[in-house]
Amino acid sequence: MKLILLGPPGAGKGTQAEVLTKKLGIETISTGVMLRAAMRDGTDLGKLAKEYIDQGKLVPDEVVVGIVKERLSQDDCKNGFILDGFPRTIPQAEALTNAGVEIDKVLSLEVDDEIIVERLTGRRECKACGTPYHIKNKPVPESGKCVCGGEIIQRADDNEETIRNRIKVYHEQTEPIKEYYASLGKVVSVDSAGTVEETNAAVISALGL
Ligand code: AP5
Repeated sequence: MKLILLGPPGAGKGTQAEVLTKKLGIETISTGVMLRAAMRDGTDLGKLAKEYIDQGKLVPDEVVVGIVKERLSQDDCKNGFILDGFPRTIPQAEALTNAGVEIDKVLSLEVDDEIIVERLTGRRECKACGTPYHIKNKPVPESGKCVCGGEIIQRADDNEETIRNRIKVYHEQTEPIKEYYASLGKVVSVDSAGTVEETNAAVISALGL
């Protein structure tokens, strides 16, 4: 299965990817996770990414396409993968097609903008493995640490002003991708406004798993 998870920030892409990656036995490739790891490591890529991510803007296409192509060429992607947060622009989608990557399905998670703001202001995540939590909907374990033992943090771009900019960028630059893949007959849409469990049941059913 070569699957793309599409949806606005806070739609639950990372949350659903966590379940699907276990169920399908394939890796999740999250450009957001890769870019934040580079920021933590203080690499040149990380320094460049920080300038964009902190403002809720997209990192330039050529940078992101380069890291995804390199990642997809690794052995653990040979039997399939889940792309979370990529592609995010029409040029990124075209770069994937031009690289000969044949996508099976694009799962579009649908949710209203106001729900997104509530979800993202309440989100916490593991600094080590990236697992998402939420102060109300998916509380951190009682130990105060992630299930992997990692430290729980709040993302710097999860403040209301930056969240609203990320939503605007999504509607302007990422939403047109849905039409691109719909014209290829690849899109499956799921309402992601319910609970994590309700959304997961709808995802599993929509993908025929
Ligand atoms: P990225 O890390 O991809 O962030 P995003 O797309 O903004 O998405 P999020 O991670 O915020 O949300 P999600 O949909 O994964 O939701 P989650 O499952 O965590 O990108 C960050 C930045 O990196 C971008 O702004 C950009 O600058 C850059 N970037 C990344 N990829 C790029 C690319 N391809 N090109 C250019 N730039 C790129 O859920 C959110 C919260 O809600 C959690 O707390 C969760 O517990 C909770 N929740 C989830 N589902 C439910 C539910 N059904 N009910 C209740 N709560 C729920």
